[in-house]
Amino acid sequence: MNPVIRPMRPEDVPAAERVSDEGFFELDSRTRRTDGPAPTRRSERHREVWIERTRHFVEHDPAGCWVAEDDSGIVGIATSFRRETLWCLATYAVLPGRQGQGIGKPLMAAAMAHGRACTRAMLSSSSDGRAVRIYHQAGFDLHPQMFLSGTVDRTAIPVVDKVRDGSAGDIDLLDSLDRVARGAGHGVDHDLMLRTWRLLVSDTSTGSGYAYLDERGRLGLLAASNRRTATRLLWAVLAETPGEAAIPHVTAANQWVLDVGFAARLTLHQEGYLGLRGMKPPAPYVHNGALL
Ligand SMILES: CC(C)(COP(=O)(O)OP(=O)(O)OC[C@H]1O[C@@H](n2cnc3c(N)ncnc32)[C@H](O)[C@@H]1OP(=O)(O)O)[C@@H](O)C(=O)NCCC(=O)NCCS
Repeated sequence: MNPVIRPMRPEDVPAAERVSDEGFFELDSRTRRTDGPAPTRRSERHREVWIERTRHFVEHDPAGCWVAEDDSGIVGIATSFRRETLWCLATYAVLPGRQGQGIGKPLMAAAMAHGRACTRAMLSSSSDGRAVRIYHQAGFDLHPQMFLSGTVDRTAIPVVDKVRDGSAGDIDLLDSLDRVARGAGHGVDHDLMLRTWRLLVSDTSTGSGYAYLDERGRLGLLAASNRRTATRLLWAVLAETPGEAAIPHVTAANQWVLDVGFAARLTLHQEGYLGLRGMKPPAPYVHNGALL
């Protein structure tokens, strides 16, 4: 039986999470760097965060979230959302063993229909050969992403001032910074991030910006009005990160991240692409893989 493409319902989300975990675990095993860590299955905490985030997308953008289903259950998923004039693809996966059989493309088409009134679009692509082919066909420019990881040299961390914990009272400022960086506020996604992550804000007469630390205490998202403020926030994040640090999703437009990462003695590698339509790579900005 050919899978049926239908809207994702809240009760589908745990099964959708399994498809995503299977898809990305197999991809990580297939594309593993020889010097990289061994792929692992998701932790219980990571799974909970994924489920909460996807329920949020289904609640706010029911027309952006789709599943492919056959007799065996859910075999593919695509979740997406609209914020102001921007459409973002959050997750996209087909079960290993079912890939390359024409299931993914109609899922992507259904999700993209949700964004047809948007002038801009963003997605964070894996290095998967099928994914990049589909994104290029859909009109996305592909910008290589860099990642920094390792143990922070704590003697390199400068004294960081003018950074404070943020709260819901900062959301208007955060949305304004988002609009300058990517043309659209994160809107309701800030409510989600504030619920699950920690917010740091820098707001001075010379510049403003914010950064979220994710559930593992690592950088989840960063936006600022200038590089100086962005740099200050990134150091604040590294100072707060317990254990191994990771700075994800750095585009070539954000060389200031490399200045900080190398000063902290992190190592650099390249993985995947920021896919963009109708916009240039945001800077100074470090995007989130799902909330962009
Ligand atoms: C990306 C993904 C969702 C696409 O779903 P899919 O069902 O495999 O996609 P389809 O079969 O509909 O289309 C695949 C396209 O790639 C082509 N393709 C098939 N195998 C390929 C391969 N090994 N390398 C490159 N292209 C390939 C197909 O021919 C088709 O293109 P065409 O229609 O122009 O000929 C799925 O492969 C997947 O889950 N990958 C792992 C997780 C991932 O990377 N997700 C994207 C995250 S951003």
